[in-house]
Amino acid sequence: MFKAENFQFQVVPFHEVVGVGDIQWPESDVAVGISFHALNVKWTTQDSLRPFRPSDAEDFLAWARDDKVTHYLRWKTITSREEALIYIQQVAIPHPWRQSICLDNHSIGYISVKPESSNDRHRAHVGYAIGSEYWGQGIVTAALKIAIPIVFEKFPFLVRLEALVEEDNVGSQKVLEKVGFVREGFLRKYGFNKGEIRDMFIYSFLKTDKIAS
Ligand SMILES: CC(C)(COP(=O)(O)OP(=O)(O)OC[C@H]1O[C@@H](n2cnc3c(N)ncnc32)[C@H](O)[C@@H]1OP(=O)(O)O)[C@@H](O)C(=O)NCCC(=O)NCCS
Repeated sequence: MFKAENFQFQVVPFHEVVGVGDIQWPESDVAVGISFHALNVKWTTQDSLRPFRPSDAEDFLAWARDDKVTHYLRWKTITSREEALIYIQQVAIPHPWRQSICLDNHSIGYISVKPESSNDRHRAHVGYAIGSEYWGQGIVTAALKIAIPIVFEKFPFLVRLEALVEEDNVGSQKVLEKVGFVREGFLRKYGFNKGEIRDMFIYSFLKTDKIAS
């Protein structure tokens, strides 16, 4: 079971960090952070988050073909390996920051951060999903905690992450709240998805905010 309580924590060089608590940025260029290692599930640095590859098509299809997973996503359920490959090549790989969430080097989901353009590039939209067999094991909460310091470092102009979540997507709301996002409001009839206009909550996390422990 992949639960936060199943991890042990230790201070390690930043390049070995797979799970992040409070990152310290010392005077030297060697940053340290809090790393976690699963006690009974191996989720290593290489395994955790990495860019998508064409060879992920089969693994991607395994969860992207599931209507339960895509119900709250803006894209349509993927139905074949060919479609999966095209999506990876045309959407996932060129994306500014879309990482595959991996377990045992298999792609089980994704997390993405997409900055707006021009004068709005200080804010970015956050998205994520994993295969339904992995739901409720703390994986996306952990992945988002890893992602936040990485994207604020990669996009130095970024000051705000935001996420839009449908009213009945309780799992996603919990992820954001467990990471430290603030629920700012309720947007009535805001997002068009799968043929209907849906109500949504808006959440944000600022560069100055603290990741929840
Ligand atoms: C929403 C989603 C990303 C959550 O990922 P996850 O790895 O299961 O989340 P976590 O295990 O870190 O869960 C955080 C909390 O939400 C709860 N949770 C997870 N999925 C849930 C669900 N479907 N219904 C109710 N609660 C759920 C977990 O039990 C946990 O609560 P707890 O800490 O009280 O035990 C995942 O369910 C998913 O991929 N859904 C489909 C895609 C999607 O909705 N993406 C987000 C669009 S805004």
